[in-house]
Amino acid sequence: MLLTQDAANIAGSIDPAFRHDIVTGLSRSPKATPPIWFYDRRGSELFEAITDLPEYYPTRTETALLARHGADFAAAVGEGRAVVEFGAGSSRKTPHLLRAIAPAAYVPIDISGDFLHTSSAALAEAFPGLPVLPVVGDFNRPLALPTAIGGMPRLGFFPGSTIGNMEPDAAVDLLRAMRRLLGDGAKLLIGMDRIKDRDRLIAAYDDAQGVTAAFNMNLIERVNRELEGDLPIDGFAHRAIWNDEKARIEMHLEAQRALHFQVAGRSFHMDAGETIHTESSHKYGARDGRLLLRAGGWAPAAEWTDDDGLFALVLAEAG
Ligand code: AVJ
Repeated sequence: MLLTQDAANIAGSIDPAFRHDIVTGLSRSPKATPPIWFYDRRGSELFEAITDLPEYYPTRTETALLARHGADFAAAVGEGRAVVEFGAGSSRKTPHLLRAIAPAAYVPIDISGDFLHTSSAALAEAFPGLPVLPVVGDFNRPLALPTAIGGMPRLGFFPGSTIGNMEPDAAVDLLRAMRRLLGDGAKLLIGMDRIKDRDRLIAAYDDAQGVTAAFNMNLIERVNRELEGDLPIDGFAHRAIWNDEKARIEMHLEAQRALHFQVAGRSFHMDAGETIHTESSHKYGARDGRLLLRAGGWAPAAEWTDDDGLFALVLAEAG
């Protein structure tokens, strides 16, 4: 059964948080915008398309881990938990987990309300009798869990290596916030993308079909659509680089010539070759990942990875 709350955003109105983040990010030097704003409906659809690309190994690797280790998850977390998924998106991986552990409720949290409600409805249909309680919101800001999950023990589910989008200090803050939100006795199942061959990493973020480029460029189109922007689409190119020092892939939008444009009544300039840094995707070695969890208040308890060590699922307990 699907139990929805009021949608936070009313279609058609300017989102002040979006305007603030974009105007602030474009005013900064170097220019940098938060990746959460990729995910309007079109961006969410493009991300779904990315997950099917031959070059983009994370989703299929993680999904295979979830499909394969259900019995391990059941033994490690037990039945009757409320599963709280952070950044639920299309929830394509979730059925594997839910089937394995027989939870008492499912709470998907996502910033794209539209998308969340569509996917929650599909999931509720596939699991009749499971209370599905979607929460529209940004899990990087304080939010409340539905009161209906009351005293149930919680399992946080944070797949996709979304944690990699955060700078390490912000990742620790987020893990601590999750620890507080989920409470004593909680567990967390988290996906982490591993450090690997540079060419393989770059190909995953600069695919031959240009889907990732379209995903990155959609931010410009969204700014133009929703924030009265006049950025020239042909003035930008998608770039993906591996920053070895920070162990992360960075996505940028690079100005192809000197540009002048307006967003929300403000004027901006870019030199030719200057970039807007639109996303970082941090990669973690096995020890790095466990250290990050411990710093965030979670004790690593078990870990599953594929034969090539591309991607890992780590189960941790509230410390
Ligand atoms: C959803 C943040 C995990 O970093 O791999 C995919 C987003 N960006 N291709 C990632 C993304 C470009 C993705 N995360």
